[in-house]
Amino acid sequence: MKALVLSGGAGTRLRPITHTSAKQLVPVANKPVLFYGLESIAAAGITEVGIIVGDTVEEIKAAVGDGSRFGIDVTYIHQDQPLGLAHAVLISRDFLGDDDFVMYLGDNFIVGGITDLVREFRTSRPEAQIMLTKVPDPRSFGVAELDGEGRVVRLEEKPEQPRSDLALVGVYLFTPSIHEAVRSIKPSARGELEITHALQWLIDERREVSSTTISGYWKDTGNVVDMLEVNRSVLELLEPVCEGSVADDTEIIGRVHIGEGATVRGSRIVGPAIIGPRTTVENSYIGPSTSIAENCRITDSEIEYSIVLCGSSLDGVGRVESSLIGRDVEITPAPNTPAAHRLVLGDHSKVQISA
Ligand code: G1P
Repeated sequence: MKALVLSGGAGTRLRPITHTSAKQLVPVANKPVLFYGLESIAAAGITEVGIIVGDTVEEIKAAVGDGSRFGIDVTYIHQDQPLGLAHAVLISRDFLGDDDFVMYLGDNFIVGGITDLVREFRTSRPEAQIMLTKVPDPRSFGVAELDGEGRVVRLEEKPEQPRSDLALVGVYLFTPSIHEAVRSIKPSARGELEITHALQWLIDERREVSSTTISGYWKDTGNVVDMLEVNRSVLELLEPVCEGSVADDTEIIGRVHIGEGATVRGSRIVGPAIIGPRTTVENSYIGPSTSIAENCRITDSEIEYSIVLCGSSLDGVGRVESSLIGRDVEITPAPNTPAAHRLVLGDHSKVQISA
């Protein structure tokens, strides 16, 4: 069995972070989302992994390399344009051969991994198996309709009027019959070859498409609210570690991971929280569910339930909450008079000011 991991895509929902970086490399608890997926593929015993890349190819390659550190062997497959998930399968025919495979969307996060799912598929071996989860608003997902016995009878891609609240999770298991399906469908209204349509083609051909509904936590990490929530849920499992230096005048409460070369002075950190390598925290408060990446400086500030990416600094800015702060960002107080906000924000930034 092989794996096909999709790591192209523009990441428009996570702008401005994704203006300069691939959405699959946005870190959760200081580790790229994509790495969790690769680790769970390896844990399921799959070693041959094709990664679909687009415009962000160099960045993905630099992060993942040949895959050896995950215990997998990576083949990069270039998709010139984001023409859809079924198109990704189409161009991967040579790599996939006649093997069964798991298709994994690199921006999805499945708590608990995919080992059980892969085992179930190998045992019962339907033509295709999908994963579903209940969501409050299914309109931005593929949506499944099941019959009384739980068989999939209909799938729709991003319907305006969903027939159920069961959204397609970005992990699919396929036998080689999917190749016939992806060759048989036409582009959708958004100009993409949809995997949802390929699955519907299999259903129409009376091939068995089974489903597993997971109640466990998962998120499409395409927006900031979801990012913060998935960051929180991963930090819940954090092991306390201190590889940096913590001064005596600092209070560490609960599960806190302090990276190599990090320095904490005169501060209070309430876990679960992670402080990246070579980051400095001084006279500050770091609250629960916060991930601070490497090479950051937090001075005379308070931050909670937030993600700060590498190289950024917060200096004397009071309290920051529920925030996603990009790379090399500087946040400082404005001069006292006039009392005004002074902003230099990139395109698509979002700022909420407590006035
Ligand atoms: C894709 C699929 C959709 C699925 C979703 C899960 O959507 O087309 O059916 O529910 O992934 O992440 P996209 O992220 O391309 O909009």
